[in-house]
Amino acid sequence: MTRRTTTVAIVGAGPAGLVLAHVLHRAGIAVTVHERLSRAAVESAARAGVLEHRVVEYLRALGLADRLTAEGERHGRCEITCLGENVLVDYGALSGGVRHWVYPQQQLLRDLIAAYEQAGGSVAFDRPVRGVTADAAGRPVLDTADGPLHAEYAIGCDGAHGIVAAAFPDRAQGPGRRYPYDWLTVLARISRPVEQIRYAVHADGFAGMMPRTADVGRFYLEVPAGEEPAAWDEPRIRAELHRRLALGGDDPVLGELLETGMLRMRGRVAHRMRSGRLLLAGDAAHTVTPSGAKGLNSAVADAADLAGALLAELRDGDGDGDGGAPDGGDALDGYERRRLDAAWQTQEFSEQLLDLLHLPAGLAAEERGFALRLRLERIRRIAAAGPEGAAFALAYAGAGELPLPAMWPSAQGGAVATGTTGR
Ligand code: APR
Repeated sequence: MTRRTTTVAIVGAGPAGLVLAHVLHRAGIAVTVHERLSRAAVESAARAGVLEHRVVEYLRALGLADRLTAEGERHGRCEITCLGENVLVDYGALSGGVRHWVYPQQQLLRDLIAAYEQAGGSVAFDRPVRGVTADAAGRPVLDTADGPLHAEYAIGCDGAHGIVAAAFPDRAQGPGRRYPYDWLTVLARISRPVEQIRYAVHADGFAGMMPRTADVGRFYLEVPAGEEPAAWDEPRIRAELHRRLALGGDDPVLGELLETGMLRMRGRVAHRMRSGRLLLAGDAAHTVTPSGAKGLNSAVADAADLAGALLAELRDGDGDGDGGAPDGGDALDGYERRRLDAAWQTQEFSEQLLDLLHLPAGLAAEERGFALRLRLERIRRIAAAGPEGAAFALAYAGAGELPLPAMWPSAQGGAVATGTTGR
């Protein structure tokens, strides 16, 4: 049998894997992408949908945001309700113009796959990687259904509980937190688009309403940790959403419930994102609750940084993958340092938001009123012009920029890709 080789073997075709594959492939690096699910499953699963400013600017520079910017919606305001007061947070204004884009993750994945294929790449769907070992020289060998695949680097973009992290000597485990509540998730038809994210801080638990498309919205309900979805039938879900979100007036009318699920609320950051020639990106290295809509965005930010680091290492570094250069590390160690710091910043931001949105467990009725009133104070501060409002707005909308690889666009003769979404 012929020996199968590649330079960079990517496990997982989520946002992290696809963005990384695209940049490396376009830079001329040999890349493979293995995805355990079918293409249809990857392209249809409803997950995230709120994209940070810096992520969209990055995708735009790569020519990957044509459909996103044509069909997505810009959002620069959210509302937080508490004790009957509906506080509008105009974070687009507070941040000086930094706003989100709303575009469903499955559509983004469809675009990324199409663009990758149009550039000549291909994703091996229905092809789980069963494990990663090392050859005698310490290079990764992936166990695939088509036989062993030898790579210079193996990248775990394979989500929480990924198999690449499992091949780290210490399994890359890091500290985490299981929150004392879960979020029931509901995808529902709506009579008109959700204009802005609504967070409801309520004595009976948090509820949220997020935009997705013109006639579909995503809703969340706080429930006790470990609760089974079966405990929530449709009438109960509808009643709680109406009550906690105070739906009425001009609000979208809830139509058919298309999908319900339970999101187990956890936060975790790995100790490491690198072990020699094994690297992690996205959920494989850190999971964050959806409170700040940061999961998808962090995954793309990791991929952007890692693409640059891998290109630097493959082109300019010694490529030995040992990270043991006399100066204390190579480009890939820099990736790990920067992205672990960023993961903790994201985790801290999301936890602050969770603290705001949930009441501590076990409060008496009177204490709940006290806790709600304190939260209203904080919400008003976030919504007001001033340092706290600006800091929240910049972090929430994702100000700043993700690093484009040094070869982009100059090494492409100025031809920053445009119109590559394959439509
Ligand atoms: N072999 C091949 N593919 C695998 C394997 C495996 N052994 N294990 C997991 N995968 C695939 C999954 O099927 C999935 O498609 O890896 C992919 C991981 O994708 P995501 O879970 O979307 O992870 P990531 O790219 O890091 O994006 C994370 O996206 O949905 C948002 O907010 C969400 O935080 C999340 C973010």
